[in-house]
Amino acid sequence: MLRPHRPSGVVLLCPGASLIGLVPSPRPSPIARVLGGIGDVEGAIRSDVTRKKVFSGIQPSGDIHIGNYMGALRNWVAMQDDYDTVYCVVDLHALTLPQVPAELRDARLRTAKILLASGIDPQRSLIYYQSEVPQHAELCWILGTLASIGHLSRMTQYKEKLDKGGQNLGLFSYPVLMAADILVHRVHAVPVGNDQTQHLEFTRDLVDRFNSRYGEYFPRPRQITPGVGARVMSLKEPTSKMSKSDPDASSRILVTDDADGIRRKIRRAVTDSGRRIVYDVARKPGISNLLDILAVFTGDSVEELADRHSASGYGKLKEVAADAVIAGLAPVRRAYLDLDDVDVERIMNAGAVEARRRTEQTMADVRELIGLPG
Ligand code: AMP
Ligand code: TRP
Repeated sequence: MLRPHRPSGVVLLCPGASLIGLVPSPRPSPIARVLGGIGDVEGAIRSDVTRKKVFSGIQPSGDIHIGNYMGALRNWVAMQDDYDTVYCVVDLHALTLPQVPAELRDARLRTAKILLASGIDPQRSLIYYQSEVPQHAELCWILGTLASIGHLSRMTQYKEKLDKGGQNLGLFSYPVLMAADILVHRVHAVPVGNDQTQHLEFTRDLVDRFNSRYGEYFPRPRQITPGVGARVMSLKEPTSKMSKSDPDASSRILVTDDADGIRRKIRRAVTDSGRRIVYDVARKPGISNLLDILAVFTGDSVEELADRHSASGYGKLKEVAADAVIAGLAPVRRAYLDLDDVDVERIMNAGAVEARRRTEQTMADVRELIGLPG
């Protein structure tokens, strides 16, 4: 039986609206809760059909930095209270750039651990590795037959990555797999940083193409991006995005960095000419980036912070920012170090079982809609 999507008319969250203020600020769940629930993970993650659904993914292609945390992860954690949340370590996406197999294996596990340590709670969220749920790849193929080559070739991320990994079809069709990730769960919203805007637009375009050809089936997913921290910049080059693939490791603060490492990187962050502390992204990108970081880790607004520190020097602002980041990440780092790899893999395996069950329902509908046996 098909369950066509009916737009409910309920506005979930305005696209681009600040999540801060709409939901309580994230607090990492105590590690005891993560570990305590392992026994009943499978039972606990049954989908609640009455709540709006959310999906997001993160690539295990390096170490998770505060850009990932500020732009995405902390909102993933916060959304667990109000939404039916599904989070995925998108290892198939990571293959679009060359990977060393043993490193990929480690990075998958480290990424899963960071999600759990940040407060993703397997009792409330479905969490799994993308490659263990083949329905993603199946839907990707079907959506690929509807995807516009012109639209795909205009993707900024594709153009940027072309130089890094050579040309391959996977890199070109990366947004189709991302659309499949989202649509296979038929979710309403996707919390991401603002570098994913084009990919979300592409996803909605695929929804329109599919629905107009085969009948209204997929919801058009909204992008949820935080007001502050949606684009955290490199500490070394504050006009470029903080990125996992930047060869200069001091350009990013890792979620698992220790206090000394965080302080050292912030002290050495590139700042701007002049001495005044003002929030002005165009003229003072370095200082504005530090103010964004401080705002997220203190909960204060950038204006308030710029005001409060207007008489301090850059050096003082850096110390205050380092203190806030160290304090904010300390519980995550502690939880990360406490997690047991075997327990984490059990959580991820249980997640994959449930994800296969849920996504197979979508695939049976899709096959039937397009004229294949459901
Ligand atoms: P990725 O590292 O590309 O797998 O990204 C995982 C999530 O982090 C996505 O939602 C991105 O939009 C977000 N993200 C990545 N880099 C940044 C950044 N520098 N600032 C804010 N969000 C980011
Ligand atoms: N493309 C995203 C990124 O680079 C990762 C991703 C893959 C994703 N599939 C997704 C994000 C689905 C949100 C929803 O950050």
